[in-house]
Amino acid sequence: MQKILAIYGSPRPKGNTTILLNHAVQGATEAGAQVGKIVLRDLKMSPCLEIYRCKETGRCVIQDDFQMIYDHLLSCQGLMMASPIFFYTVSAHTKILMDRCQSLWVKKYWIDKVPYGQWGPKRKGLFISVGATKGKKLFDGTLLTIKYFFDVLDMELWKALLYRGLDFEGDVLKHPEYLQEAYEAGKELTLTFT
Ligand SMILES: Cc1cc2nc3c(=O)[nH]c(=O)nc-3n(C[C@H](O)[C@H](O)[C@H](O)COP(=O)(O)O)c2cc1C
Repeated sequence: MQKILAIYGSPRPKGNTTILLNHAVQGATEAGAQVGKIVLRDLKMSPCLEIYRCKETGRCVIQDDFQMIYDHLLSCQGLMMASPIFFYTVSAHTKILMDRCQSLWVKKYWIDKVPYGQWGPKRKGLFISVGATKGKKLFDGTLLTIKYFFDVLDMELWKALLYRGLDFEGDVLKHPEYLQEAYEAGKELTLTFT
């Protein structure tokens, strides 16, 4: 059975990215995946403290909920991550997780000495995001951040579902086509592993 990890990055329990990710989870589950859910707002996680004790083992030494996520991140075949756009990047919850994964960057490039840019992604990631405005560059910075975050996880950015003009909680429900797209993406991601 395919193991997929779904990471919820919004502070809102019924927010737009949460609703979209729930649809992707449903698609993945119906396609036969075993989906683990991580809701970042419910966890206690320190930001990266830049002490670099991870240089010894590739594992972050701060003992908090990141330790559980680390194991899930390493063992999943696919990742589905959703974050709203906050000031043209991901939410603080999501960014804290990303920065804690510097321990994985250290493992990959300093400990295992993988030559930079010379690796083939073994896993696939789906990224879902929404923003309130409609600017052409709304997702540009975030996509760069996600691309390099997925690189650390040995993942390719397989698909990004990006929606503009959604602000209030539940706005996305006015767009059943977006929900369908998220459902299909979850399903398709799972089927790429079979
Ligand atoms: C702190 C904060 C910063 C935001 N920054 C932006 C932004 O830079 N651009 C934008 O289009 N929307 C911005 N928004 C609006 C959110 O992206 C929008 O409300 C989105 O629907 C929230 O997604 P969620 O319901 O999944 O949390 C911001 C909202 C908050 C609370």
